[in-house]
Amino acid sequence: MRSSLVAVSAALLAPFAVPAQAEEADPGAIVALQFALGGDHKGVRASGAKGVCLKGTFTPSPAAAALSKAPQFAKAVPVTARFSMGGSNPKISDKTKPVTRGFAMRMADPAGDLTFVVVSAPVFSTRTPAQLLEFLKVRAPGPDGKPDAERIKAFAAQNPETGRQAAWLAARPVPASFAGVDYWAVHAYTLTNAAGVGTTAKLKFVAADKAGLSDDELKAKPDSFYADELKQRLAQGPATFDLVAILAEPNDPTADVTASWPEEERKQQTLGTLAITAIEPDATCDAATFDPVVDLPDGIAGPADDPMFAIRSPAYAVSLSRRSN
Ligand code: HEM
Repeated sequence: MRSSLVAVSAALLAPFAVPAQAEEADPGAIVALQFALGGDHKGVRASGAKGVCLKGTFTPSPAAAALSKAPQFAKAVPVTARFSMGGSNPKISDKTKPVTRGFAMRMADPAGDLTFVVVSAPVFSTRTPAQLLEFLKVRAPGPDGKPDAERIKAFAAQNPETGRQAAWLAARPVPASFAGVDYWAVHAYTLTNAAGVGTTAKLKFVAADKAGLSDDELKAKPDSFYADELKQRLAQGPATFDLVAILAEPNDPTADVTASWPEEERKQQTLGTLAITAIEPDATCDAATFDPVVDLPDGIAGPADDPMFAIRSPAYAVSLSRRSN
């Protein structure tokens, strides 16, 4: 919360303070296009507009403190979280494919909250903010109200890495539940322990109860079923995810969110378990933004050289200020 408010005032009062690599595209322009592509609905997020607010607990594994001195890896902490559908259309069907399902969470601690905002794919759709701006621009409707299919095709041919996320999603079934799919933080993080030893890792939330829908099952579903499914599931007990660190090897790319690492060939370490226990009123999640850049305690840092990381903070602040006004 603390840092989200700081981020909003920074967005309103000053030029965006982002590192040199991120200055190639204006976060305000990106967010305006994100809204436009979803139909310019008011009072919603620029992405993750349709979602469910939740609460739960994160309990670290005994091994976590050896990798990070963050307080969240030393004791169990309360969590505010939100599952969502990608995009700015609050009426998007839960059946939509290939669209990411999102998971935002704030693991609270007086010494500094730990926030992750993750998606149901190991990669993001673009490598740089400038590429994201173009990716969105080519999808904007033309004078006939429709996007230009030829332009989209030409952009994809020139920027093949921007098709990896959609291809990954298209090759998998639509999740049967927000709690039935894995989520990735996509960026490379540095975990630092009490002795000052750093470890580079990608982070993944692994669902305890994975389930996808067959084409027939999908057809039989209404457009909104995730919220009800979650209500019924949580009435039976918590929905749990293991937080797993995928440890980097020397030549793994740490500044390109369109490039995944061969996870099966990497060492993995479970850092703890996130248990989602109950649904919360929307207002609990809507008052601030989940800021994955600023809201990190000592012991975990985002990548300094990944241009898609830092710009998320001002972009989320622009979206928050628009949906709050
Ligand atoms: C330059 C890159 C990105 C931009 C400009 C961007 C932009 C945004 C914006 C403006 C919001 C709405 C924030 C709010 O109103 O609170 C948002 C939400 C979200 N973003 Fe991003 N995003 C980026 C990268 C990513 C990445 C890499 C991921 C996941 C790995 C991600 C996952 C999400 C999710 C799950 C939400 C919903 C958050 C919620 O439920 O409150 N975004 N994004």
